[in-house]
Amino acid sequence: MQKSSLVILVTGIVAAGMWGIGDYMSHRGELYGDVERGQAIAEQTCLQCHTKFDDDPHPNPEAQNAPSLASFGQRWPLENLEEALAEGITVSHDNITMPEFSLTPESIADLLSYMEKLTQEANAKAVK
Ligand code: HEC
Repeated sequence: MQKSSLVILVTGIVAAGMWGIGDYMSHRGELYGDVERGQAIAEQTCLQCHTKFDDDPHPNPEAQNAPSLASFGQRWPLENLEEALAEGITVSHDNITMPEFSLTPESIADLLSYMEKLTQEANAKAVK
């Protein structure tokens, strides 16, 4: 489990008890967007620092501890991330601060659908 100095400045997100809930598939179903558009958004933004999977080489040496996108859905319900992205997620870190993104609800749904796909692939491969 990663130890991170993460500060998500969003109200009402990620109660500690939600960690480890694997049954994300029972979510409300409103996250579904377009996986391919989500991938394009991720490539333009997130994947400059984050990897897709835990074992991938890091694209940005300054962001070695940016967790893989696949790991998000393994650790918390992705709908928590939806709220964070919608309200503006702020992550502080020693060397590098994650930029604050302003994404439309549609882009967020696309992005989360893409992450969900990565999470499913990672789970299927039983990566960690
Ligand atoms: C400029 C580099 C950079 C970009 C671009 C970036 N991130 Fe990050 N992100 C980081 C780093 C570094 C961390 C780890 C911070 C820490 O642990 O201290 C992080 C952490 C996170 C976390 C917290 C993960 C956890 O396990 O606590 C989330 C969620 C996240 N990023 C989502 C995103 C999304 C979604 C995008 C694209 C819209 C994105 N990031 C783009 C650098 C970046």
